[in-house]
Amino acid sequence: MSYIRWTTFALLGAIALACFAQAPAKKGKPAVTKKDFGKTADGHAVELYTLTNANGMKADIMTYGGTVVSLTAPDRTGKFGDVILGMDDVAAYEKGTAYFGALIGRYGNRIGKAQFALDGKTYKLPASDNGNTLHGGTRGFDKHVWTAKPGTGSELELTYVSKDGEEGFPGTLTSKVVYSLTDKNELKIDYSATTDKTTVVNLTNHTYFNLAGPGEGTILNHEVAINASRFTPVDAGLIPTGELRPVKGTPFDFHNPTAIGARIDQNDEQLKFGKGYDHNWVLDRNAAGLSGAAIVHDPKSGRVMEVWTTEPGLQFYTGNFLDGTLKGKGKTYVRRGAFCMETQHYPDSPNKPSFPSTTLKPGQTYHTTTVYRFSAK
Ligand code: BGC
Repeated sequence: MSYIRWTTFALLGAIALACFAQAPAKKGKPAVTKKDFGKTADGHAVELYTLTNANGMKADIMTYGGTVVSLTAPDRTGKFGDVILGMDDVAAYEKGTAYFGALIGRYGNRIGKAQFALDGKTYKLPASDNGNTLHGGTRGFDKHVWTAKPGTGSELELTYVSKDGEEGFPGTLTSKVVYSLTDKNELKIDYSATTDKTTVVNLTNHTYFNLAGPGEGTILNHEVAINASRFTPVDAGLIPTGELRPVKGTPFDFHNPTAIGARIDQNDEQLKFGKGYDHNWVLDRNAAGLSGAAIVHDPKSGRVMEVWTTEPGLQFYTGNFLDGTLKGKGKTYVRRGAFCMETQHYPDSPNKPSFPSTTLKPGQTYHTTTVYRFSAK
């Protein structure tokens, strides 16, 4: 039954997409352009690439953190507008933004007690979040300048080589991320990585979306459907307990499209721990490969975002820690003024043998794909 509800919603998204695809649109040539985007405090030049697809959809991506700085999507009138939070210059990103738009590595989300064991050896990591390690440590992949190589269409390949021992992790890890803007109005992210020593890897992207536009109030009226029957409940430090808990009968059941704000402040221990939604959903899938994870709809603009991924998990985070301090694009980013859909392996997998493994060995290639597809209805 729940699968039927999910598929119906997915179908509605597909129909909306088909309608938009039929709208008369001037087809342009997919392209990538580059400009200087200033320097980091330690003098590294940062480049800003603009990817444009045939429909005129644009993504600005900078080499600092491999960060998506802006991303446009069509509303129900076909008008493209920015749908993500971002800052105005590199200095503002370096000052700290709660990972706006950034690539996250080497390990996305939390590793409990800032340590893990691999092949009998314990690795100690920086404790960057209540005694745990969040998003790769104190200087994760979001705080390094990546090397860019534009493709022939609207693609950009970014590479970052993380040294053996960096942030406590073993092995030199070479990560490549290819961002593409397809003519189906998708931002596609392909992640790959190789290592010279056994290590753990969990790469993701931390874009904060507001489908009504950055700084356009909260996302509490956005309707969300998540293709998941279970989630990984957490302790007070947001570390999974190891349980895969059914969502049925809880505010975590998003089989039916539901407004984010409908249950977010319910008297529920898990919501209290996260100060809202800040949890990993265990995605339902019928087969390996790219599979539908979530759909978000903003009733105001009509924009729809579908999330497709090869990953087993989805961190749905509702910007609970934003508090109006961060400002960019001429706007103020209020609490719950954005949501993140971080596709990933489950948090703390290196310490949870029952979770799908995040171990990468020399000779193996890590490869995952996530697609954010935009339409309107
Ligand atoms: C985490 C949140 C955290 C946010 C920004 C999310 O991935 O789950 O707990 O506050 O990133 O730091």
